[in-house]
Amino acid sequence: MFQKDFVWGVASSAYQIEGRDENDNRGETVWDVFAKAGRVYEGQNADVACDHIHRYREDFALMQELGITSYRFSINWARILPEGTGAVNEKGIELYRDMILEMKKRGITPYLTMFHWEFPQKLYEKGGWLNEESIEWFGNYAKVVAENFSDIVEYFITMNEPQCFVGFGYLKGAHAPGDQLGPAKVFQIAHNALKAHGRAVQMLRKYAKRPIKVGYAPTCGVACPYTESKEDIEAARTAYFSCSQPAENWAWTVAWFSDPVFLGHYPEDGLKKYAEYLPEFTKEDMELIHQPLDFMGQNIYTGYLIRQGEDGNPQFVERPADFPMTVTNWPVAPESLYWGVKFLYERYHLPIFITENGVSCRDTIAGDGGVHDPDRVEFLDQYLSSLQKAVDEGIDVAGYFLWTFMDNFEWAKGYSERFGIVYVDYPTQRRIPKDSAYWYKEICQSNGAKLSCNDKQKE
Ligand code: NOJ
Repeated sequence: MFQKDFVWGVASSAYQIEGRDENDNRGETVWDVFAKAGRVYEGQNADVACDHIHRYREDFALMQELGITSYRFSINWARILPEGTGAVNEKGIELYRDMILEMKKRGITPYLTMFHWEFPQKLYEKGGWLNEESIEWFGNYAKVVAENFSDIVEYFITMNEPQCFVGFGYLKGAHAPGDQLGPAKVFQIAHNALKAHGRAVQMLRKYAKRPIKVGYAPTCGVACPYTESKEDIEAARTAYFSCSQPAENWAWTVAWFSDPVFLGHYPEDGLKKYAEYLPEFTKEDMELIHQPLDFMGQNIYTGYLIRQGEDGNPQFVERPADFPMTVTNWPVAPESLYWGVKFLYERYHLPIFITENGVSCRDTIAGDGGVHDPDRVEFLDQYLSSLQKAVDEGIDVAGYFLWTFMDNFEWAKGYSERFGIVYVDYPTQRRIPKDSAYWYKEICQSNGAKLSCNDKQKE
């Protein structure tokens, strides 16, 4: 069973829900420009999104009603520092302080992510992450964050999913800023971003007004063993941490983004495999990246199957053609939560928060006015049962943040996907809790006891 102080929460990000306001003085981000260029599904943008900047009081009231006591959210760098560095936008600070105080008033503990992909456009124009100054830009942003929020926030996360903002943003071009720079430049970008993470940890701690807890939230699909034989488990573990992707997709990896942060070095196999593309890494760089952290976050949505091949190496196992897939076309793989936290904990030895997990479904408002989403309930029930198995085995899982509270702007897919447990009717901005929201309330309030796996145990 989950320990008494297990953290049950929901997650969101600034850009996906906030919207804009003519007078908010926020600066442009690469996502604003990307959307303006028509690169999002059906030309959509996040100018309004869930209009959260005007509705957060009601949104937190609803969260409280739904029994949510922890909330992972992010703040938009360009709302705090419109040009990325320099002048601070006091309106942005006031807005976020008010949001945080409001959620706390509702008994909701804030977990603040500094960077969930809102890179200031002005800094992009100065070279973005490719410019080594980005390390100090981000460090300075961390200082402003610590000075303005550490009195009311205890938990901070530096970055969300570097795999995605680096890989999709600069290698594949599918996310903002939409570049395809080739592996060599993108390794430099990743190295700078990792150094910026380290610098941010230093600055957060240095300028915090009290002791704070700091973590990091990377992602990746989980390699799950095809059978529970020792050989398949070992093969899955090896595959999970290996740099197996070709150079043009190299960023889709766990170890490249986590080994330096938690262990202080890049993975050996990647150093060899990608040698021709790599910049120089100094000892000082690695020390900067390797800052002590209080917890590790991991966003886990899916997994793939691995077994030991006849040659003794990990071998990918195809899933059958009729295997259940989510609307996003990701395999439904509840075991990924168990194997993910198990493998991560064995390697990095830090308490783990699942900083995101959830599913996009084809939700609609039913004739009775409700939104019935049995597939989501089933998905979450199975995933959480698998997480409970890891907890029962003594793996230090500190908490779980369901992605996401309300339907929102799903990046390049615009509003075509609904991951929320609360339905958003965009034309009216009406919020309708889905069945899964009421189900999750029971799970949180019973500390997981209401998961179906526990009924079976009782039987
Ligand atoms: C990961 C990202 O952090 C989040 O922003 C996104 O909406 C979800 N996954 C779902 O794709």
